[in-house]
Amino acid sequence: MAAMNVPETQAAARALLAFWRAAGVDMDEAEAIYAAAPARRAQAAQQAAPAPVAPRPAPRARPKAESSVESARALAAAAQSVAELRAAVEGFDGCALKATARNTVFSDGPDDAEVLLIGEAPGKDEDEQGKPFVGRSGKLLDRMLATIGLDRKFNIMISNTIYWRPPGNRDPTPGESLTCLPFVERLIELKQPKLLILAGKAAANTVLRRDEPVSRLRGRRLNYAREGLALPVNTMVMLHPAYLLRQPQQKRQAWTDLLAIAAWLDELGVARAVKS
Ligand code: URA
Repeated sequence: MAAMNVPETQAAARALLAFWRAAGVDMDEAEAIYAAAPARRAQAAQQAAPAPVAPRPAPRARPKAESSVESARALAAAAQSVAELRAAVEGFDGCALKATARNTVFSDGPDDAEVLLIGEAPGKDEDEQGKPFVGRSGKLLDRMLATIGLDRKFNIMISNTIYWRPPGNRDPTPGESLTCLPFVERLIELKQPKLLILAGKAAANTVLRRDEPVSRLRGRRLNYAREGLALPVNTMVMLHPAYLLRQPQQKRQAWTDLLAIAAWLDELGVARAVKS
């Protein structure tokens, strides 16, 4: 429809006023406004209108991720043992990955092990079995750990930064990582491990809240300190076994990391099953 010019608009308004008056509606005030000079008309319209009220900002709908993080934080804080934390993670519905996963993958190995290893996220095999690191990279991890006397049956607990398999093994999103992080942090708090091993770049950067290449973090003695921890936690980053499967020429570096871990464990008095 073509836009009306000013005279046409005025004619239409007048016709409308006449219609309402004919219908018995008191149009005096409206006509007085209409008949006034344009500047006064605007002023009168303003006076006739209700006093302007500063619009109240609409209550901001909380982004879902934020409330999921908050509820993860509350659930994690309420857990007083690793068993309670496991149950809290299993009952948590705030991470969308749960909807497409078969199982929650929380941990393997003794809850009271002095060494805690944290990887990234479950893959297909882990999703099927409900245990971390049981696929190809997990088998390599077991072999690597065995060379320095660590075994998930006895002296190392293994977990991840994400508890449900991302579809198609895609990388977890920052939102998914943030949602699971309160549980990861609470696990470290509850265990206060003598040594925390972070496997790979994603686990290292998520837990340490950094954004650095793994080459800069691996093999160094780090101190993980955070509010809520009774003591800072000795931490070492190692190359992820899945990365080593893709880049076997990096195995030498991984071996150096393992020797550094073994030396630190000895200094810390952590029992290792060293083969004679
Ligand atoms: N890669 C990980 O980081 N974690 C697993 O549990 C399996 C593979």
